Amino acid sequence: MKNNNLFGKDILSADQFTRDDIEMVIERSIKMREIVKTKGATDILHDKIMAALFYEPSSRTYGSFIAAIQRLGGGFIPLQGISYSSVAKGETLNDTVATFASYSDVIVFRHPQVGAAKLASDSTTIPIINAGDGPGEHPTQALLDIFTIIDHFGTVDGKTVTLVGDLLNGRTVHSLITLLLLYKPKLIQLVAPEELRMPANTVKRIKNAKISVVETESLDEILANTDALYVTRVQKERFQNLTVYEKLKDRFVITRETMKHLASDAILMHPFPRITEIATEVDSDSRALYLREQITNGMYVRMALLSLVLQK
Ligand code: ASP
Ligand code: CP
Repeated sequence: MKNNNLFGKDILSADQFTRDDIEMVIERSIKMREIVKTKGATDILHDKIMAALFYEPSSRTYGSFIAAIQRLGGGFIPLQGISYSSVAKGETLNDTVATFASYSDVIVFRHPQVGAAKLASDSTTIPIINAGDGPGEHPTQALLDIFTIIDHFGTVDGKTVTLVGDLLNGRTVHSLITLLLLYKPKLIQLVAPEELRMPANTVKRIKNAKISVVETESLDEILANTDALYVTRVQKERFQNLTVYEKLKDRFVITRETMKHLASDAILMHPFPRITEIATEVDSDSRALYLREQITNGMYVRMALLSLVLQK
């Protein structure tokens, strides 16, 4: 195996990964899938405890990290809903992180503020895994997303990836673009209402990487050449003005009709939760991976990450 650069490290941003790191995570995720499918579990982390500190709602990230540590034989401290912790009494982020760090070997951390995972990592020497920091980043989601694309197509190189929805506030797409830039996609298409466009510096990073990029407000013209269509939710919790949210939330809705314009060998992804942006009638389409591979890959990738971070 290649050198495990992730051992003992914080996982704060997709920026920290090299292509070798991603390939190591993918290789390990495939092994984890094999273990789960053949034996259900292993005990390689039987002496480790993971704390899950979630200051924002979560189903998949929280659930899959807990399933992952359990399938690796480890224990966990669940802290979802900080209103039941001493945070509600006014405890600082630093004190909370330092407390849970003294009980555990790794902390999985979600918080509404950009940069909060980095702040948490300054309060402890044990690894912090960023499970989403406001509209900033969601690096473990990006790993499972790129794993899903590579597992399906064998590669990202030469593929056209189309990102749709709230590209301004959606942290999953911010981290995913960083990982895509380590490969050679043919084209990245960004589909968003004017108000929710991808931040200009991210678009510039795509151009600097010499990857073609298109920004548009129209889904129709870009479906036919898409290989991976990645749809996101308009992030209601980031809006000051809910009238603006109401105006934008249903701008792009994928229906059975939309799917007729997508190539027969394309894939449809969504990090979830899905609100109205993909009609449930699409779920049975074999190209829709979100309720199938994409979600289970989350558990395999998080098993891989925990094992790499906690074991040499
Ligand atoms: N679950 C993802 C996140 O936490 C996507 C979303 O909430 O829309 O970023
Ligand atoms: N994809 C994702 O992060 O889902 P949750 O917000 O439910 O964890």
